[in-house]
Amino acid sequence: MAELTYTSYIQTDALLSLQQTQSPETMDRAAVLSEHFFIVAHQSCELWLKQVIADLSLAKELLSAPFDQPAALETGTELLVRARELMRVLHEQVVALERLPLRHFAEFRPYLGTASGAQSMQFRVLGRLIGDGERDGELYGAFTRCAAAYGYDVAAICRLGVDGGALYRVAEALLDVGIGYWRWKVTHLGLVSKMIGSQGGTGGTSGEDFLARRVTVPFPELRRLRGALHDQELARTSA
Ligand code: HEM
Repeated sequence: MAELTYTSYIQTDALLSLQQTQSPETMDRAAVLSEHFFIVAHQSCELWLKQVIADLSLAKELLSAPFDQPAALETGTELLVRARELMRVLHEQVVALERLPLRHFAEFRPYLGTASGAQSMQFRVLGRLIGDGERDGELYGAFTRCAAAYGYDVAAICRLGVDGGALYRVAEALLDVGIGYWRWKVTHLGLVSKMIGSQGGTGGTSGEDFLARRVTVPFPELRRLRGALHDQELARTSA
């Protein structure tokens, strides 16, 4: 068997052959390079999404593990904290794309046809895990069941704060993942606004308006319960 090398392990040859620009060869070289940059940013997002989805899916499973396995809860928390960090990395990909010159984008955009980020299957899977401002997703469902197995509801965990131990850390990490997801959407909306203004998207939506309606902060119940703590604390201290 051939000895493993960096190139064969990371599969760099396959990886680096995947950036297939659509611009015609006659196009300005700098514009073609910008299309390459556009593809790299999207591919990087998809790669990190793969990791985030795997981390969050395993975290969800571990939250559902029998409650006499505290290590499962700790590993679940570790995965949530990692996913939170990866949401930041995903966000940075979009920030980098702000350096795409508008004239280049306008030049290669016609060659994108109807291809659109809205067709990203992985982004939909992530959306089902995290939920949105109206509906809690699969992760929150797993968390409430986990809390119940330990004899708590989420309100009690919020009230306990750091005394809630691992369950409190899970609640905090979930919220941070949600804020990271929301931040990605805000920055993406800013990028879209900067790049296409009020023009429609390649995916057939109205673009900016469509996306703005979808920018909501996830984990509505958890945020409501945490918010209620202010009133309770105020009532306690003024009693
Ligand atoms: C110049 C850069 C970008 C522009 C102009 C842009 C534009 C748009 C537009 C207009 C939409 C709405 C759907 C449509 O009609 O096409 C959309 C959705 C989307 N884009 Fe982008 N995008 C850019 C970069 C990115 C990047 C780097 C990613 C990373 C994967 C991405 C992922 C997505 C996703 C996941 C959606 C669906 C969002 C949702 O359903 O809330 N986009 N984009």
